[in-house]
Amino acid sequence: MSRIFSGIQPSGELTIGNYLGAIRNWIALIEKYDSIFCIVDLHALTIQYDPSRMQNRIRAAAAANIAAGLDPEKCVLFVQSHVPEHTELTWYFNTVTPMGDLGRMTQFKEKSRQHRENINVGLFGYPVLQAADILLYKADHVPVGADQVQHIELSREVARKFNSRFGEIFPEPKALLSPSPRIMGLDGKSKMSKSMNNYIGLVEEPESIRKKLATAVTDENRKRRTDPGNPEICNLFTLHKSFSDAAEVETIDGECRSAGIGCVECKRRLADNMLKELDPIRERYHDLEKRPDDIADILRSGARHCSEIAAKTMEEVRDAMGLV
Ligand code: TRP
Repeated sequence: MSRIFSGIQPSGELTIGNYLGAIRNWIALIEKYDSIFCIVDLHALTIQYDPSRMQNRIRAAAAANIAAGLDPEKCVLFVQSHVPEHTELTWYFNTVTPMGDLGRMTQFKEKSRQHRENINVGLFGYPVLQAADILLYKADHVPVGADQVQHIELSREVARKFNSRFGEIFPEPKALLSPSPRIMGLDGKSKMSKSMNNYIGLVEEPESIRKKLATAVTDENRKRRTDPGNPEICNLFTLHKSFSDAAEVETIDGECRSAGIGCVECKRRLADNMLKELDPIRERYHDLEKRPDDIADILRSGARHCSEIAAKTMEEVRDAMGLV
């Protein structure tokens, strides 16, 4: 069975954008692959954060991902810092990674702009740690969104550089692009994100979701209820395609174009379908939240499993590098 590996930021609350863009695609993958998912707390240290809140963020990320479908019976979920080999391998990889390549990373450039007061070496080396995450487990595929493709390319390059210098140890991992469309925020203008406050939370209360949808921007050319709408340019139609079944999507498409229904009705149906999918996730999430010990157990057993694989890889690596 080939192996997939992906990283999850411990950013606390997840949005339906995170769900549609990542987790929901992974649920199908874990049936077919030996699957490892890692909560990347070490990556999260590269920007300012509150240490007293870190454990909560990790627990919430674990609970949300499990609730959304990362069944611990079918895949491995663990916390990056629980397997110290990630940092050791990062150091070795630092010695084969050209600085010029890291300076060209789009995410580094963006984050340096956003955090001018804290452009640290960890932020610069972030993709090297990511390469170590993936290669430590010799993963074949890395399910990610388009914004991570550049980092996966770098991981391939690190593998090539290491192999050519020290011998064939690492396979070159391939990105597995998620098929979902880019989920825009409720403003319809920028990508859905917590920082833009244009999001719907994955485990948000139903009333709050309905309220947010009611104010969401639709086709702006449709000014009156009797104007025909254009679903192709309506952000909510994208959400319908994600949450409503094919028959409903077709009906909505027709009724929007003919002004058969207005945006209010369209949003009501969207909320109904969305909540049909999100209700059980929210319930599982709140249930897990009440059992922090169970979450800790799942993460501990994940770390145990990963430590075994990591120890083997590191033996090969140290040996190849003349460190034994
Ligand atoms: N950088 C990824 C992101 O921002 C998270 C990540 C860390 C990751 N390590 C990884 C993704 C390894 C895939 C594989 O989303």
